[in-house]
Amino acid sequence: MTDNANTPVSVVGLGLMGTALARAFLKAGHPTTVWNRTAAKAGSLVAEGARLAPTIGEALDAGGVTILCLTDYSAVRDLLGDAGLEGATLVNLSSGSSAQSRETSVWAEKRGARYLDGAIMAIPSTIGTAEAMILLSGPRPDFDLGALGTISHLGEDPGLASLYDVAGLTMMWSVLNAWLQGTAMLKTAGVDAATFAPFARQIAAGVADWLPGYAEQVDKDSFPAEVAALETDARTMTHLVEECEALGVNAELPKLFKAMADRAIAAGHGGEQYPVLIREFERAGN
Ligand SMILES: NC(=O)c1ccc[n+]([C@@H]2O[C@H](COP(=O)([O-])OP(=O)(O)OC[C@H]3O[C@@H](n4cnc5c(N)ncnc54)[C@H](OP(=O)(O)O)[C@@H]3O)[C@@H](O)[C@H]2O)c1
Repeated sequence: MTDNANTPVSVVGLGLMGTALARAFLKAGHPTTVWNRTAAKAGSLVAEGARLAPTIGEALDAGGVTILCLTDYSAVRDLLGDAGLEGATLVNLSSGSSAQSRETSVWAEKRGARYLDGAIMAIPSTIGTAEAMILLSGPRPDFDLGALGTISHLGEDPGLASLYDVAGLTMMWSVLNAWLQGTAMLKTAGVDAATFAPFARQIAAGVADWLPGYAEQVDKDSFPAEVAALETDARTMTHLVEECEALGVNAELPKLFKAMADRAIAAGHGGEQYPVLIREFERAGN
């Protein structure tokens, strides 16, 4: 792997995130070239030591790795449509779908570029710290982007970083929505959000500890009820729905849990353990 601080980098796209990426490279000592459609946004980075490429072609020709951080994939394809990509190494950290990642990988490789896709699981203020999680997929990189945060290479399939990105989002929204549901319920009894938060956090952490064991059941496609049967869980879901309705708070989310569990029970899985619900999640169109 090339020594981190010696790798020349070009950062293309100097929005909120691209600016943070370029600044982290500069701080770590990388020779850093920048380009942005609106060139004026490069001013502070140039003052900090970045070189402003006058054209996108010159940013690509700067001799190192080109990081793309634009609004979306169509902006990337529009921008690079006429650019010479032969011999370029592109790392596209713009957000998009796994299909767009795979298509863009084929498109870039046909034009002679080495293409890695990526996803940034962080906000700009954390870039450059270990807290910033950056996912990469595609060919294994022979350069080090550690200046940006904690880098994980997920595999050769260029769509993987985008898929992990959205899988991560479903974790985030599920936990946040569950916490808001509980908060709404407790507020009816005068308990404020700050009082519930540490309790909610403990529950979330406890449940997170179940994941490796439950993952084993999913991977083996075998769901013995070692802790509780799904029909036992479904009864507690009924209590949850009834409690929400009695309190006059929104019961949509608990009803969704219950509807999925009921379908799995109707399909004969009531005596198995909770992760058997993977069958409901794998099906489209419910
Ligand atoms: N901000 C975050 O917290 C965050 C977190 C994770 C991931 N991301 C992802 O990072 C990417 C960039 O986000 P951001 O927050 O930096 O967005 P932003 O501040 O809106 O910046 C967008 C950038 O894209 C450029 N751009 C858009 N369309 C273009 C086109 N057709 N040709 C050339 N350049 C074009 C803009 O250039 P101009 O300056 O000329 O308009 C600007 O540099 C997005 O995919 C976002 O989802 C962001």
